[in-house]
Amino acid sequence: MSDELLARIRVHGEVPRHVAIIMDGNGRWARERVMPRPFGHRAGMQSVRDVVEGAIAVGLEHLSLFAFSQENWQRPLTEVSALMSLLEEYIAREADELQAQGVRVLIHGDLARLTAPAAAAVARVTRQTAACTTLTLHLFISYGGRAELVRAARAVAADVSSGALALEDVNEDAIRVRLYTGETPDPDLLIRTSGEQRLSNFLLWQLAYTELVLSPVLWPDFRRAQLFEAILDYQARDRRFGRVTA
Ligand code: IPE
Ligand code: IPE
Ligand code: MG
Repeated sequence: MSDELLARIRVHGEVPRHVAIIMDGNGRWARERVMPRPFGHRAGMQSVRDVVEGAIAVGLEHLSLFAFSQENWQRPLTEVSALMSLLEEYIAREADELQAQGVRVLIHGDLARLTAPAAAAVARVTRQTAACTTLTLHLFISYGGRAELVRAARAVAADVSSGALALEDVNEDAIRVRLYTGETPDPDLLIRTSGEQRLSNFLLWQLAYTELVLSPVLWPDFRRAQLFEAILDYQARDRRFGRVTA
């Protein structure tokens, strides 16, 4: 089934360069099975693996995954601890495979808040995959879109006050290059799973003209086939960027 979808994507032609996903619905998936929430987070790791492989098969340049928000720190300690352990486990289990697949991993967010073992795992996978060129996987952890903008604003202010940046040169590019995503092209497509219809503070700047696909599928049930369907949906869109179609 997914091979047929992939063939249709190829026929349509233009593939998005960058797909971003808000991976949501793990808790509900676990609840449907009368299991604790971390059971859903663990199941969601398999979806990450499959979607990364799907992204490579399609030929995406960038895949951005929202894994843990700044606001998620307010969840019960047991759930936060389980998520941090799963992050370590994911990296320990997948780092070699990601490297073999040519996946460069970048981790974005307020990493100072991570536990020491999680921070060490993050540093290790970043280093290990630094030279990979097939796909860049951006993992957003302890991330908030407004915090990212504040961070960029501070960097601009510091450069202006030190004289490194002239006030006249404070423009959109000056902000953009100071975001975590730097020179990465903006997402062409944002997918949110689990039927929720909001951004939840994800990539507020970068999503300005991104096409949205809201999938009812809970993240642990999301596989490459659902990614391919979303890309087919995207390929049928008319992106006008405020202009009129000829
Ligand atoms: C997404 O699933 C994973 C994280 C936010 C860490 P949720 O944990 O939000 O699952 P639901 O939305 O409660 O079902
Ligand atoms: C957004 O999901 C964050 C991630 C998927 C990591 P949430 O489940 O935390 O968002 P809300 O609370 O439904 O807005
Ligand atoms: Mg949720």
